[in-house]
Amino acid sequence: MNEKTKRVLTGIRPTGPLHLGHYAGALKQWIPLQKDCECFFMIADIQALTTHVDNPKLIEDSVREVTLDFLAVGLDPKKSNVHFVLQSAIPELTELTVYLSMVTPFTWMQSNPTIQTEMKQLGKEISTGFMCYPVSQAADISFVSPDPNESSEPTLVPVGEDQVPHIRDNNSIISAFNRKYSPTFVECEALLGDVKRLVGTDGQSKMSKSLNNAIYLKDDEGTIEKKIRSMFTDPNRIHPNDPGTVEGNPVFIYHDAFNNNKEEVKDLKERYIKGTVGDVEVKEKLNVAIQEFLGPIREKRKEYEKEDVKKILEEGTVYARAIALKTLERTRKAMHLNYPSI
Ligand code: TRP
Repeated sequence: MNEKTKRVLTGIRPTGPLHLGHYAGALKQWIPLQKDCECFFMIADIQALTTHVDNPKLIEDSVREVTLDFLAVGLDPKKSNVHFVLQSAIPELTELTVYLSMVTPFTWMQSNPTIQTEMKQLGKEISTGFMCYPVSQAADISFVSPDPNESSEPTLVPVGEDQVPHIRDNNSIISAFNRKYSPTFVECEALLGDVKRLVGTDGQSKMSKSLNNAIYLKDDEGTIEKKIRSMFTDPNRIHPNDPGTVEGNPVFIYHDAFNNNKEEVKDLKERYIKGTVGDVEVKEKLNVAIQEFLGPIREKRKEYEKEDVKKILEEGTVYARAIALKTLERTRKAMHLNYPSI
């Protein structure tokens, strides 16, 4: 990869194995970026502590799970332009977080809508680390920033819509830093996917482990079938010959996202609206489609389980750390923390 190649950086918190929601909202759009960009896929274990500080073992186990899920869906660190990065293994990120926090008014954190939503969901004492995690995320993104004196190429950050406030904060923080000191970082650019957010199997707004409504990428056939059989559909439809609603119906949202047989989906929708197909058939067909999709992913995961996952993580992290060191040197210089005068 030459110096001018576009860089991509994105991440996920390791708080459990990844599910279909992660795939539709994130991983799916990461995969094609590996073709032309230099990609950094971060496992954000420090950020996981903002919500799971009482469960370090879960984070520890999930780092392996997430790495395997990354590999299983086709993220490929064997390519020289693809790097898996473990956040806590780059201490420079933590140092950069402190420096960036100095130019970040605390009111920005308080008014960040994602922080506000997550604060309500947490429902427990909010830590300082949690309140300031958008600054830490800015460090995650900006350590791969080019030197603006050499290139103005923005880093691409493929994320879901809920991350947009963090991208905005990143750019505000970076421009405050550049203004106060000297041009040190280039602002980044969000890359939004087509599926915004996948509902859970219970029709709740979000698929998530804590809501117990997730289908995991590593689920076995029987588990997937059971979960699909008990999925929520149109709550107002009692008999299979009642006209049903397709819009917002979880079963059809999944058909749209995962069934490649678009003719079949169209036919099922038409019959559902007319009341000439039952939920059982719609779910059976969805089961076939999802098994077809997840089967090869599960097989690939099994293959990778035999490999040295730690080594894969280490290699990407060592590569990324060398870049972080350079960025930090530039940052310290801009802040007069390299003491040329002493
Ligand atoms: N906040 C992201 C999430 O909750 C994870 C994340 C950490 C991230 N660092 C990042 C995303 C940097 C994009 C860029 O899933």
